[in-house]
Amino acid sequence: LYTDPREAGRRYAAHVAETTLQSRKRGRHVAAFLAESFPSCAGQIVLAPGFLAESYRLIREAGGVCIADEVQVGFGRVGSDFWGFQTHEVVPDIVTMGKPIGNGHPLAAVVTTPEIAASFDTGMEYFNTFGGNPVSCAVGLAVLDVIEEEGLQQHARDVGDMLKGELRRLAGAHEIIGDVRGAGLFLGVELVRDRATREPAGREASYVANRMRDRGVLLSTDGPHGNVLKIKPPMVFGVADVSRLVDALARVLAEPRLKTLAAGDGERYRGS
Ligand SMILES: Cc1ncc(COP(=O)(O)O)c(C=O)c1O
Repeated sequence: LYTDPREAGRRYAAHVAETTLQSRKRGRHVAAFLAESFPSCAGQIVLAPGFLAESYRLIREAGGVCIADEVQVGFGRVGSDFWGFQTHEVVPDIVTMGKPIGNGHPLAAVVTTPEIAASFDTGMEYFNTFGGNPVSCAVGLAVLDVIEEEGLQQHARDVGDMLKGELRRLAGAHEIIGDVRGAGLFLGVELVRDRATREPAGREASYVANRMRDRGVLLSTDGPHGNVLKIKPPMVFGVADVSRLVDALARVLAEPRLKTLAAGDGERYRGS
């Protein structure tokens, strides 16, 4: 919506200000602001500079707490930092974590301030069946060790930068690529039918994802129009994997059938 990076953060945050104002007018309070540090299912979005910092300021001013969802983007994936929120120079009051924390083992965690944690100490015991499971905790600790010992955050940065560069090179040859964005091994390739209008190429993205699967590369689509290819490979994704992915994508993007999909060509392609 707002494309000028010098003012986009402030203008998006103005919507947060408006929402808090409207709640107050209706006599309601703001409890919390919950945001992924890089909105993933929304289409691999990179938040505008300053948006999160300004939104946190507004929410705190209105008496709310700020929650960072790091379920998809935490644990070094964005490369430059261990947590996505660090890239925005904010410190949340609550951080939610999942998926990579257990590297496939079912594990999730919530971290918060001593003050907020103490507010749960009301005499009502909070517990759940699997909370604090020692095996799961051992898995979580082992994952942290591997990320550190194998330098996976730095690896995500290096390989991610290389992959992003290769995807941008592909964008130079394929008009359908409207944007390549992301950080580290959290990347999105937005497909559009027209670079000026940015008309979403949802059918095309679905076709590309299915043709990539035929070629042995699993990726998926995201965003409200389903037109963003999401690329979030395992953290050990290497240089050879970059070549394989980019080579397969170049071949799929060159398929003549892709050009006919905008006109509503036949049924959805579901793979061969
Ligand atoms: C960004 C994000 N937040 C939260 C969740 C929910 O996490 P959990 O399944 O551990 O409750 C998911 C997916 O499941 C997610 O992708």
